[in-house]
Amino acid sequence: MLVKEHPYICYHVVLLMLFLLCTKVWTLWCKKNKAAVSIPGNRGLLFVGETLQFMAAINSSKGVYEFVRIRRLRYGNCFKTRLFGETHVFISRTESAKVILNNEGGKFSKKYIKSIAELVGSDSLLCSAQQHHKLIRFCLFSLFSTASLSSFVKFFDAMVVEAMSSWSCESIVVIQDETLKLACKAMCKMLISIESGYELMVMQKEVASICDAMLSFPLRLPGTRFYKGLKARKKIMDILDKEISERRSGIGTHRDTIANAMTWMVKFVDENQEVLNELMKEQVQIEKQGTRSAYLTLEALNKMPYASKVVKEALRMASVVQWFPRVALQDCEIEGFKIKKGWNINIDARSIHLDPIVHNDPDVFNPSRFSDESKPYSFLAFGMGARTCLGKNMAKAMLLVFLHRLITTYKWKVIDSDSSIQKWALFTKLKSGCPVSLTYMKDTNKTM
Ligand code: HEM
Repeated sequence: MLVKEHPYICYHVVLLMLFLLCTKVWTLWCKKNKAAVSIPGNRGLLFVGETLQFMAAINSSKGVYEFVRIRRLRYGNCFKTRLFGETHVFISRTESAKVILNNEGGKFSKKYIKSIAELVGSDSLLCSAQQHHKLIRFCLFSLFSTASLSSFVKFFDAMVVEAMSSWSCESIVVIQDETLKLACKAMCKMLISIESGYELMVMQKEVASICDAMLSFPLRLPGTRFYKGLKARKKIMDILDKEISERRSGIGTHRDTIANAMTWMVKFVDENQEVLNELMKEQVQIEKQGTRSAYLTLEALNKMPYASKVVKEALRMASVVQWFPRVALQDCEIEGFKIKKGWNINIDARSIHLDPIVHNDPDVFNPSRFSDESKPYSFLAFGMGARTCLGKNMAKAMLLVFLHRLITTYKWKVIDSDSSIQKWALFTKLKSGCPVSLTYMKDTNKTM
């Protein structure tokens, strides 16, 4: 009857239903794709994105991490930005770190920004992907075996003792400068068997230019930081044989990470007298146990539980390698957000290390926190998974040796407490270099 009286009613009902159906489909579609659009952050203008803000942070005394820190505060644990024309996502949750660093489902690979990739070498262990990476890592394994580490400890200890014996009492020593020299020498000896002479001198100088260029804009224009870095890389390549090409490319980065870690450790210990007292008790014991003619051994380092915690805590607080770069190999989902194939995914280790939910009182230097078992993926100084730092035991050994010799040989005090960060540094580096005054020196030759 109603239909007869109003012949268009059917038509309207169908239209209404169609409209409701479309709305439902649209809502469902939006819900499904909501993550893709709602991942917080600002990708700015096409290509440029937030590159200028990123460069401004690199060029400031707060360091490049300030760029990440501000956005993490603004957007939370997961945010996106656009740098050098590419989308970058920063993630700072232990659960996501586990998924990404273990490359669950083969969805991620390593990828550095262009400047770093070119300076380190896209075929090097640091940059290589998948099968090629496995092969190089396998070839390098023997270099990092327990036997190699054992002989390295003695060699490095001898180097540290020799270096410290040249520091004079009542003088000022810049820890960063000394540790850079030590680290470069140790790396050259260990990775490419260069111990002294012209080649070592060139390595020390050119490696520094490469490190300075890591975060530069990748413009091949003469005079630019990047161009100088490329020239330095060429000089280093010219010195070395083709056969050791895989080994050589990481020297610069390893030298800086270890030197920076040593410098921060000295600063943290200086600022925490009770930690220094506790350390002294342990290290004096070690010294007493050692024969007067011996260098430190791996066994001796294994008897330093407190110093090992000091090293770990210094690495946590310094977070020398601040984030670990990966690339998504396929569209996927993380933290409920859609990640597109080709996006750069950075595990923000520094935020995890300083997250009060992950570590109690994260700003307090408290080595004893490592007496208890830590939460999974809460300590990421050396990364995790297939790309874990190959030199982590070596790095820990170097830190322990340096700490032992410094505190048992000298009375020292940091004389510049400034925590500003060096501009253009990829790895957190103290601008002051951490100068210390030496007020007491034991005769270092006596320990030999
Ligand atoms: C305190 C000093 C050091 C720190 C904090 C450190 C940290 C790291 C981190 C976080 C990674 C992994 C990055 C990622 O997953 O993207 C890494 C990789 C690596 N590190 Fe270290 N490192 C240090 C010292 C060294 C030393 C002394 C060596 C060698 C002599 C070394 C050799 C390597 C190598 C070869 C890789 C690449 C591993 C791979 O991709 O398979 N590192 N390091």
